[in-house]
Amino acid sequence: MTKRGLLGLVVSATMIIATPAVAMTEADVMADIKAFQGYFKKKFPGVALADYADGVNALPAYSERRANWELLMEFPPFDPEMEKARKEWSKPFANGKGFGDCDLAAANTYPVYDADTDDLRTLVGDINGCLKANGEKPIKNVKRSKMARLVAAYREQFNGQAMAVDVSHPGARRWYEEGRQFYWAKRGQLNFSCANCHVQNAGMKVRGDVLSAGLGHGVGFPVFRTKWSVSGKPWGTVHRRYGGCNKQVRANPFKAQGREYKALELYEAVMNTGVPLKVPSQRQ
Ligand code: HEC
Repeated sequence: MTKRGLLGLVVSATMIIATPAVAMTEADVMADIKAFQGYFKKKFPGVALADYADGVNALPAYSERRANWELLMEFPPFDPEMEKARKEWSKPFANGKGFGDCDLAAANTYPVYDADTDDLRTLVGDINGCLKANGEKPIKNVKRSKMARLVAAYREQFNGQAMAVDVSHPGARRWYEEGRQFYWAKRGQLNFSCANCHVQNAGMKVRGDVLSAGLGHGVGFPVFRTKWSVSGKPWGTVHRRYGGCNKQVRANPFKAQGREYKALELYEAVMNTGVPLKVPSQRQ
């Protein structure tokens, strides 16, 4: 996306958040969720909360293309890939155990705060942790291909369950604040925040793309993307997508599974509270 393509967008700092001077309480987080979801409810009154899992396909500005997408979903292009994903998921480790024995949280509750390490557990991190604990090699590429397929195979088992991330621990809320900060901070040569595109300009057309609402981001991931199919790697985790969005504003992408994107994933997941999982998804 070029700077010219972005010129039509509103970049005024219309804040629907206020930065608190003291550590956030659980009530503050609840108020954030209410404001974020309320903003979209007002902006797109015809779109139900659950529909945001469909990303840009849910928005009225995309309605011309929605019929095509619905047709495509009758025989989703990811079906054969999901068969492969399920086989990979059920293939036993050398020690006879398998992914089914891994100590994973419910998919709709990730990322999970771990007070012992003051770290965030993502599903991707837990899958690699389980591989290591069982004497298997962890997966190197954590944002596409096999890792994305395994994430899809696990998450789809929780389809229909509402996003519910726990921020009751003060440590979890520190991570939340970090993600929130990242989401609203302007960056890159084009000086755009995530919110500039996915909140203030959600539903706007930019050079043939419609900007999705930040609400629902990640719920349908991993995605199978036509654009990524061209290079033979159609699957991407949400961290792969974050990298792409950072590059669009000519900012350096951060590392998949690094601190910044884990915090961002937590912030987006919390904003999605109540949106039911719908995995996997197809995107353009
Ligand atoms: C210059 C505008 C722009 C900025 C800034 C931007 N994005 Fe995006 N983003 C896009 C476009 C275009 C797409 C593809 C169409 C769509 O789904 O919105 C996209 C897609 C996404 C998706 C995939 C949604 C789905 O369901 O397929 C996620 C998640 C996302 N962006 C998150 C972010 C985050 C987090 C940030 C901040 C780090 C960010 N974006 C910054 C333009 C932007």
